[in-house]
Amino acid sequence: MVKNQKVAVVTGSSSGIGFETSLALARKGYVTYSTMRNLQKSRDLEGIARDENLLLKTIEMDVDYDHSVKHAIDGIIDESGRIDVLVNNAGFGVFGSLEDLEMEEIKKQFETNVFGVIRVTKKVLPTMRLRQNGIIVNISSIAGLVGVPSQSIYCGTKFAVEGFSESLSFEVEPFGIKVILVEPGVINTEFVQDLIVPTDRYGVDRNGEYINPPVHKDNGDNLLSSYSNTIGKFLSFYYKAMSNAPHPEVVANETIHAIEKVSNGNNAKPILRVTVGNDSIKYSKLKKELTDSEFHVMLREDLLK
Ligand SMILES: NC(=O)c1ccc[n+]([C@@H]2O[C@H](COP(=O)([O-])OP(=O)(O)OC[C@H]3O[C@@H](n4cnc5c(N)ncnc54)[C@H](OP(=O)(O)O)[C@@H]3O)[C@@H](O)[C@H]2O)c1
Repeated sequence: MVKNQKVAVVTGSSSGIGFETSLALARKGYVTYSTMRNLQKSRDLEGIARDENLLLKTIEMDVDYDHSVKHAIDGIIDESGRIDVLVNNAGFGVFGSLEDLEMEEIKKQFETNVFGVIRVTKKVLPTMRLRQNGIIVNISSIAGLVGVPSQSIYCGTKFAVEGFSESLSFEVEPFGIKVILVEPGVINTEFVQDLIVPTDRYGVDRNGEYINPPVHKDNGDNLLSSYSNTIGKFLSFYYKAMSNAPHPEVVANETIHAIEKVSNGNNAKPILRVTVGNDSIKYSKLKKELTDSEFHVMLREDLLK
């Protein structure tokens, strides 16, 4: 790695937005540490980096664990002496009604999407503070601004990231550290494949089609959830929306643009929100313009047809 060159760290780089953001940062000349919890998934990223001669290194880091974050970040600082940009991207989605979810699933969602962001930020901040410089990018979601049906837990995590980021920006601004919130709408990534959705319970398959759920072997009960009407309608919309959704490269490009905007010193704004995708732009705007009741009715009509 080259000394005195700007350094970026990205979490959850094995696929989707993290994968593309890692490449975009490296292509802009950052020494990029692309972290992921399973290094067996690093081959594609390393292949592109090799072909394009990028300064990109894959490192193991699971944001759920203190020891993993400490080991990875200490290693990066030992090697490079600095971290200029941190992109907190690692995350996943739990869908379904609250009653249908187990507390363990709910805690796991907060562990990664909220405590993961806090854990890595806390570990990286001292080096940014001492150098009086740094940019923290938190990949939130339109679900961090708008309570979307079927995602009470996921929305809870992203609203938490929003509040955390807004408040943190006051703490860190005296030290020259900027906070950026990126709020994508639906983006075509592995996210939908990895969604924890019991298909049988909501009667919708991954193509967004309604199915007849099987009957429980032991007692003959239908497995359908009491909430299948609302969740099924939303899933049907969501799976179809995902197939027409933008490529994650779009999020990466917007993220780089925002980083450049706050890096050049002309942007005095202490916090920057970046909405990505037509859906995110539309709903974030309407959320400001409509009353809460009007917004709720409009969203119900849009998403639960
Ligand atoms: N796709 C969308 O529609 C959308 C919209 C708005 C916001 N987002 C947000 O964008 C971020 C990236 O998601 P994506 O759409 O790019 O989905 P993705 O392709 O599934 O990527 C998620 C990444 O997070 C990683 N990850 C999950 N848990 C982790 C952990 N404990 N430690 C380290 N890495 C972990 C995954 O690693 P593995 O490969 O090991 O699972 C993967 O690299 C998430 O925060 C998500 O909430 C997505």
